[in-house]
Amino acid sequence: MKITIIGTGYVGLPSGVGFAELGQEVYCVDNNAQKIAMLQKGEVTLFEDGLADMLERNLASGKLHFTTDLPFAVKQADIVILAVGTPPHPVTKEADLQYIEAAVKDLAPHLSGYTVVATKSTVPVGTGDKLEKIMRDINPSADFDVISLPEFLREGFALHDFFYPERIIVGTDSERARKLIQQLYLPFKNSRLVFVNRKSSETIKYASNAFLAIKLNYINEIANFCEKSGADIEEVALGIGLDSRIGSKFLKAGPGYGGSCFPKDTVAMSYMARQWGLKMPLVDTAIAENDQRQIDMAQRVLALCPVANAKIAVLGLAFKNGTDDCRTSPAVKIVSELLQHNTDITAYDPQAMQTAQTLLGDKIKYADSAEQAIAGSDIVAVLTEWPEFADINWEKAGQTMKHKIIVDCRNLLPMAEIERLGFEYHGIGRGKK
Ligand code: NAD
Ligand code: UGA
Repeated sequence: MKITIIGTGYVGLPSGVGFAELGQEVYCVDNNAQKIAMLQKGEVTLFEDGLADMLERNLASGKLHFTTDLPFAVKQADIVILAVGTPPHPVTKEADLQYIEAAVKDLAPHLSGYTVVATKSTVPVGTGDKLEKIMRDINPSADFDVISLPEFLREGFALHDFFYPERIIVGTDSERARKLIQQLYLPFKNSRLVFVNRKSSETIKYASNAFLAIKLNYINEIANFCEKSGADIEEVALGIGLDSRIGSKFLKAGPGYGGSCFPKDTVAMSYMARQWGLKMPLVDTAIAENDQRQIDMAQRVLALCPVANAKIAVLGLAFKNGTDDCRTSPAVKIVSELLQHNTDITAYDPQAMQTAQTLLGDKIKYADSAEQAIAGSDIVAVLTEWPEFADINWEKAGQTMKHKIIVDCRNLLPMAEIERLGFEYHGIGRGKK
């Protein structure tokens, strides 16, 4: 089967590499020529565990191609997968469809033979209808179906989630499209392929992300509760998570959720509802509380600074560990807030220094290691849960600090051990603090 993927970002690139690994002929298209040139040379354009090796292997096997030549790649394809961005519209904050609409306008004239056009980008409900109409107007004689094929991968686990998806949702009423998709996912023997109508599929994507955002908002609210009640959120999360109706995942309290999806998808879903005269109080509260939580975290760090114009060591800038992605990163937002209050920040992140720099520029200093960031600081703020921060030799690191204060916004460090080393340790939702 020949697959063309349009958009080689955090979704398109791992998906393209994954399909090639399964033996499909894959053409990855992007209109960013610089990105394509790098990929053609086997250089990864984003950090994702295991991606570099798999990319190299599949380039060498000749199954994986990178090109800016969209007409050529579309002519080859049995399936065209749309994986371009749908960022928040700069004014309304609804999902901005300009990139996906441009992509289908570009591809429509080049459809050849029966083709399934699958939308993997997260798009508002009804977008499938809209894209289909755009393509039919441009190329009335083309033989194609537009289906919804939402993506559920997590950054940092993109390849794992590609090869072991818990469910593959397919939104289509077309029997021909259904057959082709069944064939495509034949190797995924243990995954559930669920066929629904296109609008249900588009809704499932938003409803999933909004549910998870609300769950995170809830556990963060319980963390606040623990701080007053004297309970420990880590113990409480363990205890409630053992109830299979609640589930143990997504119960890690933190500085609020971030990333390229939860923030934009919750806002986009609420926007859709408002257009229909509907209110979504749960989603709206999650959005507002999550924004406020990140400001509260910055205020918490500021309140613990032992001196004016404190030197703050920030550990972690990515929106979570395992990725170099800083889009809507709580860490970047907290740093930006801290900068409003005469602080002197030195930051370190194992993977996200470059991406963070595009957002924060020279407003902060960037260290070559966590230890370098910590040296000479008055306070350390752990903002991303990179496991290696827990492995720092904190005894030695503490000796290089002016004041031994840690605000651990991820409850990452071993609290008892850190306190034994003489640090003043402040986690999240740990009542005795
Ligand atoms: P991204 O910004 O990393 O990548 C998008 C790519 O599309 C870019 O490389 C861009 O150059 C390219 N592009 C834009 N317009 C194009 C065009 N007309 N022709 C060719 N290439 C074009 O975005 P992403 O994070 O991969 O997200 C893509 C979509 O998938 C979004 O709708 C997002 O909501 C959804 N999604 C993302 C994730 C994730 O973990 N990042 C997970 C699930 C779903
Ligand atoms: C999320 C979803 O998990 C994916 O299923 C979905 O495909 C994707 O969004 C998307 O639509 O783009 P991702 O954004 O990669 O994936 O990251 P998550 O692991 O879900 O984390 C999101 C945010 O929540 C991060 O800031 C993370 O630190 C935070 N988080 C997550 C917590 O604070 N606690 C947790 O227990 C889990």
